[in-house]
Amino acid sequence: MKLVVTGGAGFIGSAFVRMAVAEGIDVVNLDKLTYAGNLENLAPIEGEPNYKFAHGDICDAAFLHRLLTDQKPDGIVHFAAESHVDRSILSPGAFITTNVNGTFALLEAARAAKLARFVHVSTDEVYGSLEEPLEADENFPLVTNSPYSASKASSDLLVRSYFKTYNMPVMITRASNNYGPYQFPEKLIPLMIMNALEDRKLPVYGDGQQVRDWLYVDDHCRGILSVFRKGREGEVYNIGGNRSLANLSVVHNILELTGKTEALIEYVKDRPGHDRRYALTNEKLTRETGWEPLMQFETGLAATVDWYRNHPAWVDRVRSGAYRDYLAQNYAHR
Ligand code: NAD
Ligand code: DAU
Repeated sequence: MKLVVTGGAGFIGSAFVRMAVAEGIDVVNLDKLTYAGNLENLAPIEGEPNYKFAHGDICDAAFLHRLLTDQKPDGIVHFAAESHVDRSILSPGAFITTNVNGTFALLEAARAAKLARFVHVSTDEVYGSLEEPLEADENFPLVTNSPYSASKASSDLLVRSYFKTYNMPVMITRASNNYGPYQFPEKLIPLMIMNALEDRKLPVYGDGQQVRDWLYVDDHCRGILSVFRKGREGEVYNIGGNRSLANLSVVHNILELTGKTEALIEYVKDRPGHDRRYALTNEKLTRETGWEPLMQFETGLAATVDWYRNHPAWVDRVRSGAYRDYLAQNYAHR
């Protein structure tokens, strides 16, 4: 089997590429290498005969056409996106360009190439904020509250339309919050780990009682492979970690694992439009493919803290000048 994986130099995409290559799948990793794309994430498989990198933009129709014509993959797994909610609040344009227009260009290229499978990687954020005890199944309405989630829901609807209109063999996955090694330190868990390790303040938005369902990145990647192999065309599959926690509780876990105290916590101005609670059920994916999340949150979080502690060079390199500019912009007014 040969796959084109878009966004394979990012956090989840690189975990997926490492897993797929280790399983003997031929992978062509198409990535633009934005601030979030890092080829160092692929060092463990660099040089493997079943792995290739193609530097390019999913918005570039001519490039996509050439790539699919040359490589003749069996399918596409589409991760490439602008992925951070706070950045979508500061500058939404890139989210529309990549997440909406880029997905459109990729769908058109896949349609022309008559690919056998197209898995679109989406998010539980498209269901919006849910009151307890609701859990979204795949038929829940899409209620989006940030430019990021609106751009992802838009791309989901485009993907669905290619199934209905052109009978394209597409599937959509919607996952909850991922954590694990190689995550760019703008998201809650890696940001808090790195700040705690360096005795810097831990900026908790609002009251810290917002709830997220935490999914270990490798569990997510196994779920996507299950959908690619066994999912039904035109269907949506939720992928969650079965572990809902308030942000403050995650922060306390990180303080404990890093041996630091609550004195580091700093309550800061809330994120505009902040979704209070995400929650979803995995029942469909488990019933149809047998997939289940395997990693216990406490074990996965401890492994993630160890990974950041043991990879100071990776951390230093991703904390470029551009990253420092983003931190100043996002946190200065809070
Ligand atoms: P990430 O920001 O770490 O990586 C995104 C990757 O896409 C980077 O390698 C970047 O260079 C690449 N990219 C961006 N724009 C591109 C373009 N125009 N052309 C080609 N490549 C481009 O993201 P992530 O956290 O790994 O998320 C991957 C996917 O999973 C996204 O679609 C995201 O919406 C979805 N998702 C993420 C989470 C999460 O918790 N991080 C949860 C559910 C779903
Ligand atoms: O639910 C899936 C989504 O999870 C993915 O689609 C997104 O790509 C991914 O970024 C993530 O979105 P969130 O907004 O939930 O993740 P983030 O790590 O940015 O924030 C998690 C929670 O922590 C959220 O309630 C905001 C809060 N937070 C975040 C940061 C960065 C803080 O309190 N302080 C912070 O500094």
